Amino acid sequence: MTLQLATKDGSDAGTEVGRDAPLQIKGMTVSYGQKPAVFSVDMTVPAGAMTAIIGPNGAGKSTLLKAALGILKPLAGQTLVFGRTLAESRDRIAYVPQRASVDWDFPTRVIDVVLMGLYPKLGLLGRVRASHRAAATACLSRVGMEDFATRQIGQLSGGQQQRVFLARALAQDADLYLLDEPFAGVDAATEKAIIAVLKALRDAGKTVVAVHHDLSTVPEYFDRVFLINTRKVAEGPVEEAFTIENLQAAYGGRLATAQVDQLNGTLG
Ligand SMILES: Nc1ncnc2c1ncn2[C@@H]1O[C@H](COP(=O)(O)OP(=O)(O)OP(=O)(O)O)[C@@H](O)[C@H]1O
Ligand SMILES: [Mg+2]
Repeated sequence: MTLQLATKDGSDAGTEVGRDAPLQIKGMTVSYGQKPAVFSVDMTVPAGAMTAIIGPNGAGKSTLLKAALGILKPLAGQTLVFGRTLAESRDRIAYVPQRASVDWDFPTRVIDVVLMGLYPKLGLLGRVRASHRAAATACLSRVGMEDFATRQIGQLSGGQQQRVFLARALAQDADLYLLDEPFAGVDAATEKAIIAVLKALRDAGKTVVAVHHDLSTVPEYFDRVFLINTRKVAEGPVEEAFTIENLQAAYGGRLATAQVDQLNGTLG
């Protein structure tokens, strides 16, 4: 046991990816039915980087994130966050789910959605004070939504809701941010606003992992990629792992010739 651990530490030494990496997923297998949606996936996310999770529809990207967060129970697998168990590191993780996964039937104001991000700090019976409101408002400002604080969340457009959920994640003041398609269905201005916020987090030393669909913006937005199609296809710095070969392995026939041509341009 000790020997095994020592070997593991040794093999990680000298790389930026130590055993206290912000996110380490080991042997993750998740199944909804008979066929696994995610099979035996390992993933290591180093600190202070922006990582894109890439793969076709149904590749298991959302499932991997949910299982890593304990939202879904995997058949097998383990998650370590900064070298600790999920339970020990809950308050260091912020998660923004894929859009439309929440249905806001009852009226909730935008500011209250953002204040939810502060609940772990408030405690269950903690009172919302002026300072909390100010913090929540500041997070809304960072995503350009301060004018919508008292609107009902259900009355916002999809892109506006997406910004509010990002504001809630910011309010959590986490160290690891997991976002499932933060740019889905948002306009170009909102996409620019969101990527600026994420890059600011990264530049402040935070770790950002986002499921991303637009292959053409990967080199501009991200430092690293993780390619998946049920199984892991590749992971690493964009320059090394974001290759036509890996993309073809992940997307198979679904990577259209036009996309390949475009990527050949993007990849130089
Ligand atoms: N709740 C569920 N019950 C049964 N099967 C599911 C469920 N959620 C997802 N699946 C299946 O698991 C597989 C992986 O789904 P997942 O949502 O993780 O894919 P994804 O990579 O996030 O796709 P997308 O790009 O469309 O968001 C798919 O085949 C999907 O149909
Ligand atoms: Mg998904």
